Amino acid sequence: MKLRSSLCLAYFFIISWTVANDDERSSSSSIVFTTLGRSRYAFDIFTLPTSSHTPSPVDELQITDGESVNFNGHFPSPSSSSILSNLLSNRTLTLDPHPLQFIVYVTERHGSSNIYLDAYYHHSPIRRSALETPCRIQVPLLNPEQSNGGISLKDRPSLSGYYLIYVSTHEDSKVPRRSWAAVYSTHVGTGETRRLTPYGVADFSPAISPSGIWMAVASSGEKGWNGEVEDLNTDIYIFRTRDGSKRIKVVEHGGWPCWVDDFTLYFHRRSDDGWWSVYRAILPQQATIRSGLVVVERVTPPGLHAFTPAASPGNKSFIALATRRPTSDFRHIELFDVVRNEFKEVTRLISPHTHHFNPFLSSDSTQIGYHRCRGSGNGGTSNPLMLENLHSPAPGISLFRIDGSFPSFSPDGNRIAYVNFPGVYVVNRDGSGKREVFPGTAFSTAWDWKRKGVIYTSAGPEFAEESTEVDVISITIDGDETGTYKKLTLGGENNAFPSPSPDGKWIVFRSGRSGHKNLYVMDALEGEKGGLRRLTEGPWTDTMCSWSPDGEWIAFASDRDNPGGGGFALYLIHPNGTGLMKVVHSGEGGRTNHPSFSPDGRSIVFTSDYVGVSAEPISNPHHYQPYGEIFIARSDGSGIKRLTHNSYEDGTPAWGPTFMRPADVVESPFGEPGCSFDDCHWLNLKDGNKVGELSSHLRCLSHSVSAGSKCGQVLRSNNNHSFHVKNV
Ligand SMILES: *[C@@H]1O[C@H](CO)[C@@H](O)[C@H](O)[C@H]1NC(C)=O
Ligand SMILES: *[C@@H]1O[C@H](CO)[C@@H](O)[C@H](O)[C@H]1NC(C)=O
Ligand SMILES: *[C@@H]1O[C@H](CO)[C@@H](O)[C@H](O)[C@H]1NC(C)=O
Ligand SMILES: *[C@@H]1O[C@H](CO)[C@@H](O)[C@H](O)[C@H]1NC(C)=O
Repeated sequence: MKLRSSLCLAYFFIISWTVANDDERSSSSSIVFTTLGRSRYAFDIFTLPTSSHTPSPVDELQITDGESVNFNGHFPSPSSSSILSNLLSNRTLTLDPHPLQFIVYVTERHGSSNIYLDAYYHHSPIRRSALETPCRIQVPLLNPEQSNGGISLKDRPSLSGYYLIYVSTHEDSKVPRRSWAAVYSTHVGTGETRRLTPYGVADFSPAISPSGIWMAVASSGEKGWNGEVEDLNTDIYIFRTRDGSKRIKVVEHGGWPCWVDDFTLYFHRRSDDGWWSVYRAILPQQATIRSGLVVVERVTPPGLHAFTPAASPGNKSFIALATRRPTSDFRHIELFDVVRNEFKEVTRLISPHTHHFNPFLSSDSTQIGYHRCRGSGNGGTSNPLMLENLHSPAPGISLFRIDGSFPSFSPDGNRIAYVNFPGVYVVNRDGSGKREVFPGTAFSTAWDWKRKGVIYTSAGPEFAEESTEVDVISITIDGDETGTYKKLTLGGENNAFPSPSPDGKWIVFRSGRSGHKNLYVMDALEGEKGGLRRLTEGPWTDTMCSWSPDGEWIAFASDRDNPGGGGFALYLIHPNGTGLMKVVHSGEGGRTNHPSFSPDGRSIVFTSDYVGVSAEPISNPHHYQPYGEIFIARSDGSGIKRLTHNSYEDGTPAWGPTFMRPADVVESPFGEPGCSFDDCHWLNLKDGNKVGELSSHLRCLSHSVSAGSKCGQVLRSNNNHSFHVKNV
């Protein structure tokens, strides 16, 4: 017993504070950005027996480590268990060949995702005794060399025999707005990896058939991605697991497939009545499968959302799924008896106030797994990181996710200003000295280059129409005048995104004063009273401006190609109004936003939908735009390089002049509750009517950013803490 426990591997985050003498090369710098809600996810994978009539907390087993962000689990097929036992005995010398549970899952550690295998043991047959220390063995199943230095999204693993099947984003699709998500298979013994998705196509949510012969995926096929989020425009394809051959579309419009036997699939789609529902597809048992011969039936009724199904060959009479019921604000796992057409609640009986995601069943159907926030209820115990370090694919640039929005660096790179809703905060880059410097609602931050301790922000509600009252203010945070604010614009006509000139004399900002959002330049000290000049003019939106460190250029985002059409590209213009040029554009109707110059002025960092979505958005918590990734490019738009790989909404990047040591920075003081995040906003519905109503608001939101305070208000009232990172 002792031996085994000492052999258990424990993985902990290594938490470090930045030390004074960093190895700072002059070419080195850091990028900090925001991910909507991400710092509040503290997911672990749990299992329960499916047989218990009324599950209770003592039945629930936490499989994963309680430290990392662990999700999208899978029980390996029985054909893998002896292989896994060998794999474990080779790596860990563990003595017990019969762990209680094997789980394959996605884990985010040190800012990157990987696929791990956990074997979970108990030291005694009696669980949860005071003396017992459960033991888990954790084994990474992919090593970084297998994919782009480990920097890519990994998703939806399953293991059959020697083959690990999963989604990865490590290969560039080379086409704007075409996802890099593709299905791969890796031999866990040899590491040999093969792509199963054809080039030019994106595949999501792979599932392996009980025999291991067939794969099913949700695929965008030839049609690619058109910016849709709520209901991804995917079809179900199947192909051979061995080599990707015999690929054929079996269902039009559907996602998240799973197999109950080699001829029966379940999947989800949003039905015409607005409710997400689970469907069944029965494939012909003949050798040739054609989609015309596939029988598709709706399985779950209207009146609630049911999605992300899981099935098991062990008992074909029930499936597992996630639901959003009109009576609950939380996503829960339920079983559905497909013979009696009855739901059986599972997780609501254990943790009623926590979201539960993406169920999976063991092949004998006796166990159900899912992920949820660890801790009791939606107010878990994890402390968010102030700055979470991510592996950076760009040499010399360290990359961090901040627990806030709209970060900006002080000119010396030692402090970061950012926004939380409400309030503007400043923190030292080592995480110390955090303080609120403005209590009101505000968005975007920028530091004066010459006057130490002066920052600018836009005070007022984010994401509002031209006439909404928003003004640019300066805030003094150092010296005698600490705590004073000065209003620099006066009329409140949605004046926002201030960015000062490097000589300290001017501020460029966007204003809706003409009825359209265009760019203006005003006096930095006295505001528009001291001088105001219009920089751009037209019936469209120019916004999110950033002045280059050499003073020569202003970068901004604009929809001038197709005003109100929802697409945004990046432009440069000289401060005197000449030299306008489009520099980055993400295909027809694509979005590229929030440019920020590198310290040497030669590159820009921005957020964009350039790589589409990387996972089915419904399988994740709420993200308005789960397609924002962070990119850098030369300031002429050439040499675009992707920095982030995830299925979240990454936005509002800032580029600072010092190289921050690539290590996590813990929030101080501790004690912010974790796990406070929202479910997908389009599931927050009480009845079928509202389904249509809300989605039309969302359409309006995504199509015309200038169209609507109505959209903005509806969304805000549903999602208090949520924020549109690509705020315009
Ligand atoms: C474990 O080690 C043995 C002996 O070295 C080898 O034959 C076997 O293939 C290994 N198993 C795995 C899964 O790597
Ligand atoms: C299969 O599941 C159904 C529904 O939960 C249950 O009634 C039945 O007893 C199960 N069958 C077996 C063989 O376990
Ligand atoms: C505008 O500014 C640019 C960059 O500073 C300069 O090269 C150009 O000559 C200026 N044009 C005019 C008309 O002043
Ligand atoms: C939204 O936030 C405000 C201010 O923080 C708070 O007073 C209110 O109760 C919140 N509403 C909801 C629905 O959480």
